[in-house]
Amino acid sequence: MQRNIFVLVVVPYFILLATCKPFGTVNGILGQHNEHEMISRLAFQCPPGQNTDGICFEPISLGNLAGTHGVIPLTGDNGMVGSPDDIFPEGPEAHCDDADFLDAPGYPMTRDQATAQLQRCVDHLRMRFGQAVRGVARMLNSSDHIIEDQTELDDDEECDHNHRETTDNTNDKAKCVALEGFGRALHGIQDFYSHSNWADLANSNQPTSVQNPPGLGLPYTAPFLDLRLTGSISSQVPYNLSTGCYFLLDGPNGRSDCRNRITHYSMNKDHGWVYLNGTIVADADDVPRNEVPGNFVRAVTAAVEDSQRQWEHLRDEIRRVYGTAKGNRMICGLISDDPASICV
Ligand SMILES: *[C@@H]1O[C@H](CO)[C@@H](O)[C@H](O)[C@H]1NC(C)=O
Ligand SMILES: *[C@@H]1O[C@H](CO)[C@@H](O)[C@H](O)[C@H]1NC(C)=O
Ligand SMILES: *[C@@H]1O[C@H](CO)[C@@H](O)[C@H](O)[C@H]1NC(C)=O
Repeated sequence: MQRNIFVLVVVPYFILLATCKPFGTVNGILGQHNEHEMISRLAFQCPPGQNTDGICFEPISLGNLAGTHGVIPLTGDNGMVGSPDDIFPEGPEAHCDDADFLDAPGYPMTRDQATAQLQRCVDHLRMRFGQAVRGVARMLNSSDHIIEDQTELDDDEECDHNHRETTDNTNDKAKCVALEGFGRALHGIQDFYSHSNWADLANSNQPTSVQNPPGLGLPYTAPFLDLRLTGSISSQVPYNLSTGCYFLLDGPNGRSDCRNRITHYSMNKDHGWVYLNGTIVADADDVPRNEVPGNFVRAVTAAVEDSQRQWEHLRDEIRRVYGTAKGNRMICGLISDDPASICV
């Protein structure tokens, strides 16, 4: 299990590597307020004190998926959704970074190059979604009943999320493996809306430039992020869609090969406070795109909506692959904190 406090104490350098990729995963440093966790909780939580209705996640299951944070900054666990930001964060394909494009003469990336980079992200997230679909198979025994040892979680930080190179690990509990696939897919989905101009608006007080690319302001989830699809996304990508060229210690100057490109620094809407009552407050500190009122809310709202869409798709796909009766039992096994007795 990856505890942030451990990272901080033992290898201070890596905390930077581990935590810069937003939306934020940890709480309390680098402007992060565990945004991924809060977005995921907002998307999936059951009303306090209520059991699952077949869609919402009960607390222990949700803690393992979404992550946890302590009152003390940097304590808690990144969870499955935060895991692409663990030590040695995953590359641009896990966060939909480096797919930048500006419709201006001489821009260093062509539309096709940017779309190809975005395709890498989508393919990566499809692969993780598939891990979740395959992972639930081991939850049932040969007479199609829930196996307690594969589904029962004792606390909200139980599942490991260090299977970055392994997509179908069979050592861990089936529930953990499925949640890791789904969580890693959700990370990229959520990042897409904070790292791109899909939902946001440009600063109308400044001319269009690499520092102020157009905002598409689209009020719906991106069709090409339907992770059940296969094949090329290129016909579904708006011409002016862009993410940002990412650099670890991001800043106004970017890294050398981000020069003259739209950077993550210019594009991101990563930081703010997301509360479980639905209040969303932007943090303008060092996030230029948050200077446009509403941009953080647009990004978070789209991330929540798309997280819920992904879960609907995952439920549909599990039922399609395994049939309705088995599928419903597997879905129940993912969201119930007492699956052996409830998911019958
Ligand atoms: C599957 O699990 C159920 C419930 O625990 C049990 O009654 C049944 O015997 C198991 N079937 C097999 C084939 O192990
Ligand atoms: C793309 O954005 C540019 C401004 O950078 C604008 O002139 C152009 O009309 C936009 N193209 C499309 C297809 O929306
Ligand atoms: C939601 O919770 C936050 C933090 O506790 C609080 O500041 C805010 O006023 C609340 N919003 C509503 C609408 O109750």
